[in-house]
Amino acid sequence: MNPKRIIIDTDPGVDDALALLLALASPEIQLEALTTVHGNTNVENTTRNALAVLEFLHAADIPVAQGCSLPLLVPLHKSGDAVHGTGGIGNTNLPDPKVKPVDEHAVDYLIQRVLAEPKEISIFPIGPLTNIALAIRKEPRFAEAVKELVIMGGSLRAGGNITPAAEFNMHADPHAAHIVFHSGIPITLIPLDVTYKCLLTSEDVERLNRIDAPIARFVRDATAVYMEFYKKYEGFNGCALHDPLTLATIIAPELLTFENHYVDVDISGGVSMGSTLADFMKVSKKPANVKVALGVRGREFVELFIERMEALSALGGGA
Ligand code: RIB
Ligand code: CA
Repeated sequence: MNPKRIIIDTDPGVDDALALLLALASPEIQLEALTTVHGNTNVENTTRNALAVLEFLHAADIPVAQGCSLPLLVPLHKSGDAVHGTGGIGNTNLPDPKVKPVDEHAVDYLIQRVLAEPKEISIFPIGPLTNIALAIRKEPRFAEAVKELVIMGGSLRAGGNITPAAEFNMHADPHAAHIVFHSGIPITLIPLDVTYKCLLTSEDVERLNRIDAPIARFVRDATAVYMEFYKKYEGFNGCALHDPLTLATIIAPELLTFENHYVDVDISGGVSMGSTLADFMKVSKKPANVKVALGVRGREFVELFIERMEALSALGGGA
């Protein structure tokens, strides 16, 4: 079967970086490009991190386009350091990348790639949706030409992780999320309801590091700060593989259970700003606009992630 052609829109970010590792460790995926956005850290850092991770993985030929530095309307979120470390990827100390991003802005890059090959390219947004929303608004043909969006974000019954009601990516730019959810583009949503069931534990990382390899050490160093945060604030021994789980829609869809629902995004500006509201009881009579993952065999996904990292490590990937 031909590998699935995807562009990942990303704010690396520890779990974003793990998603990039998994994408490049998966023959079912053809990673066409990365576009970067503000989120876990500022867009200069997310772009540097994206370039540095690709270079670390000997994949510097994959284009990176830098995107929006600010949300559409709300102020920029600034406290990602506590979760993702000051550089944005934990304790990793990747060298400054030699490669540069492409000249085009991420919004223009997404538009030109998608219009050049309509219905061929899936976009995986795993950060705030600012770039995607502006592509929809700037080019009316964009929404029709995108094959699909597979989005990490939202929370339907699991509560929020940045406010009591909202998940980080949606809260970081709720107006962008509202535009995307009402765009008509086929959307698959991977919310906190399933990502919090995919916990990478310190024992998993120790098992991976039985292999003496740069990739294994990268996963250990990247997740160290992230795991401390989860232990301190969420009482978990481990960290959630939020962004990597989007790729399960390609490499192990049998691990996910989906339902179709009408989902809206709260932009009313109150206490639940950025929350994602699913019409489970069909009271709005509005047609479903999102295919939502509400079930996952989480431990099996984490095992798959570790196995793919072990294979990548054994191949001598990285550095
Ligand atoms: O809520 C989890 C999401 O927010 C992930 O994409 C993580 O990288 C952060 O951006
Ligand atoms: Ca992210």
